[in-house]
Amino acid sequence: MTKTIDSHIFRQTMGCFATGIAVVTAHNDKFGAFGLTVNSLTSVSLDPPLILFCIDKNASLHAAFRRADRFAVNILAAGQEDVSRHFASRHHHGQPKKIWDKPQGETPILRGTLGWLLCRRHKLYAGGDHTIIVGEVVDLRKRPGAKEPLVYFHGRYRGLES
Ligand SMILES: Cc1cc2nc3c(=O)[nH]c(=O)nc-3n(C[C@H](O)[C@H](O)[C@H](O)COP(=O)(O)O)c2cc1C
Repeated sequence: MTKTIDSHIFRQTMGCFATGIAVVTAHNDKFGAFGLTVNSLTSVSLDPPLILFCIDKNASLHAAFRRADRFAVNILAAGQEDVSRHFASRHHHGQPKKIWDKPQGETPILRGTLGWLLCRRHKLYAGGDHTIIVGEVVDLRKRPGAKEPLVYFHGRYRGLES
């Protein structure tokens, strides 16, 4: 027998699983540079180096990310709530220049993060109402310094201590 799972309680329960926050960024002719805030980021494999994130099929950037053959995962630092909110809103592109760092080829990179991973699209999988996008890491940078991450827990932004 399958129990019916209340989606609100599902969200609340998964909200107990604290995560970091990343912004996945890419570039196309229509939008220029664009990005989406995600906390579904997971590393998948070391050899080859694979990561995944899940994107809602109803997200306005769903088609753009499905088509993106390169994208970057930017790992947000403590204090970057504004960047997270920005890329979780409808204004995913055309942002003020101060948000962006030097791009990697055509792929946009965000300023002030803990680091980034440049990925080539590896595979797409169906995942219920989301698409699972798996990327192969082709370059990466961990920024120097002892910055802390931006944490997401119980639907709120946190630091490591709060
Ligand atoms: C902390 C946080 C994590 C999120 N994680 C994801 C995610 O993993 N996948 C996803 O599709 N949307 C995620 N979202 C929602 C998107 O950032 C965005 O708000 C949503 O796709 C709505 O975009 P739209 O209004 O352009 O359709 C997250 C939002 C926040 C604030």
